Amino acid sequence: MKTFIENMPKAELHVHIEGTLEPELSFALAQKNGVTLNAKTPEEMIAAYNFHDLPSFLDIYYAGMSVLIGEEDFYQLTMAYLTRAAQQNIVYVELFFDPQAHTSRGVSFHTVISGIDRARTDAATQLNVECQLILCFLRDMSAESAMQHLMMAEPYIDKLVGVGLDSDEKNNPPEKFSAVFAKARDMGLKLTMHCDVNQDNTLEHIRQVIEEIKVDRIDHGVNILASTELCDLAKAKKLGLTVCPVSNKFVVQSLTSKEIKDMLALGLTPCINSDDPSYFRAYLNENLVALQEEGGFSKQELVTLVENSFKASWLSEEGKAHYL
Ligand code: ADE
Ligand code: ZN
Repeated sequence: MKTFIENMPKAELHVHIEGTLEPELSFALAQKNGVTLNAKTPEEMIAAYNFHDLPSFLDIYYAGMSVLIGEEDFYQLTMAYLTRAAQQNIVYVELFFDPQAHTSRGVSFHTVISGIDRARTDAATQLNVECQLILCFLRDMSAESAMQHLMMAEPYIDKLVGVGLDSDEKNNPPEKFSAVFAKARDMGLKLTMHCDVNQDNTLEHIRQVIEEIKVDRIDHGVNILASTELCDLAKAKKLGLTVCPVSNKFVVQSLTSKEIKDMLALGLTPCINSDDPSYFRAYLNENLVALQEEGGFSKQELVTLVENSFKASWLSEEGKAHYL
């Protein structure tokens, strides 16, 4: 099964570029940029990754970004992930990035997007990995800040496929960003939002993303299973759900294999993703292998999950046909 999973050409739709920062690169960049890290070795850094919920993860995730300063740093980070993706037989990626986490530290939007986009272009020719970018707004910052960043992105619009919403969900409902997402849609961008597992008001958040924001996809969204009405809506709209098993394990102590099977049985469109693979110590293949071991998924079910990634992607119809 492991070899079968490794050999399948795959797509990944839910991976945060900042969540791919490996400790070794972190140390190299810290030395280059004169940044002091809390840990003395990569092993010590990994040993401190003891998250048990979303906020405890986010604290470490944001602290880790302090080593990313120049355009070349963002290039190296992105090239490292896309190289890893190629090794995992991932042929297509939709990659999240969090500009506000960098502009708030004095790194310009131009620096961030230029480095990431240069790697994206190089990966297409050098690695045969196709990649599109999703600008993510931090939901624990204001809607005004999100709108300012959307405006900052306007000159770079041809480099983006969509916008997303991530970070701490508590007291930050989707509707806080209604105007920002409406504007993004007017600009021709696709829309997605995180509805992390077991957050406060999760069903109301899922309802808002489907009915009010009218997203094109939902990130995580596992709690949808508690509402027949929402499942019917998601099915009718063929909404992809980008589930992240190993990430879920940190929050709900389960890879949510049962929930993923239930989604398949209901005719929903779940697909499997790594979220923050460096912090959770599992890239896409490791997520699929762990999921298969926990849930006993058949080869056909695994193929369906991988096909769902392409179906739920924001490739053109011709692009999808090329891979499916
Ligand atoms: N930012 C990076 N990973 C995230 C996640 N799983 N949930 C919310 N925000 C995130
Ligand atoms: Zn995520």
